[in-house]
Amino acid sequence: MTAIDSETQNQRVTIDVRLDRRRWSDHLAEETRAGLSDEPPWIPPVWFYDELGSDLFDQITRLPEYYPTDAERQILGNHAAEITRITGAEHLIELGSGTSEKTSLLLDALAENGLRRFVPFDCSEEILRSASDSIAAKRPEIDVHAVVGDFHEHLDALPMEGVTLLAFLGSTIGNFEPDQRRRFLTDVGNVLGSDDWLLLGTDLVKSEDRLTAAYDDAQGVTARFNLNSLDVMNAELGANFERDGFDHKAVWNQSESRIEMHLVARRDHRVTLNALDDLTVELADGDHIRTEISTKFTRDQIGTELNDAGLEVASSFTDNNEDFLVSLARPAQR
Ligand code: AVJ
Repeated sequence: MTAIDSETQNQRVTIDVRLDRRRWSDHLAEETRAGLSDEPPWIPPVWFYDELGSDLFDQITRLPEYYPTDAERQILGNHAAEITRITGAEHLIELGSGTSEKTSLLLDALAENGLRRFVPFDCSEEILRSASDSIAAKRPEIDVHAVVGDFHEHLDALPMEGVTLLAFLGSTIGNFEPDQRRRFLTDVGNVLGSDDWLLLGTDLVKSEDRLTAAYDDAQGVTARFNLNSLDVMNAELGANFERDGFDHKAVWNQSESRIEMHLVARRDHRVTLNALDDLTVELADGDHIRTEISTKFTRDQIGTELNDAGLEVASSFTDNNEDFLVSLARPAQR
């Protein structure tokens, strides 16, 4: 499946497609069927991200209420040189890289110190192709080896020779349920060699007011982002959700330490999804569909979860406000 797309004098740009489109869409369909059949119903957050949804997410990252992106950018800006010095990484892997925008702060520092290869890993081939091209053009001294895959299935496709820094930023890990998180961190612990590093970005617990405002902004961008998932399911799954029959809601779930986004029915609905063998979903006025969880952590919790996965924190970095944490961890010495 590996294809070398271009090879100039000494730069290689490779796109390694591990995700079979057909199997991936079957998997998403099955996950959605399971979620919508659950009580209470939920859907996977993948339905947020069509072109419009990705653009809305981009707008979210610039909202005054949505602090995580700026906080993480501040941390990477302040500590990229130190991360480079501590790790001496020759290869940078970024999981869930998307457009790799914040990563450029790391890439700049690492590239000055002998970085040889950048490995963006994402489930979207289109996004990876354009991100790879633009990074390759900007950094002719670095090879780009993009991997199209699923975090829960294809970590073993990552090239791991040479000292490797594996970055998972943006608090995307907060979208996983606790057992998925455990499995994911264990898998990461297993792919890292004794000289390799994990750089993990996690959002921290803070006041409920700030958390709910970050997921229910005054301009209604997050509401549009949430409701867009209904349009995406209508298009991708042949569903007939009526988006004006739902309200956006963000709630702080104290016992699970997470923000949850929901869509709340404003009237009774009977929805059919053609691509799920005409699955019908009945919703009564006031019923919720959970669309996303965004877990918020404490430092201790992160340390414990990393330890449970055979990793230990070597350094951790926070922003001035202590809103966000970036942890640099390595395999625990055996
Ligand atoms: C990119 C998944 C980490 O959970 O904060 C932003 C997504 N959802 N506003 C997050 C999101 C609503 C974001 N992640």
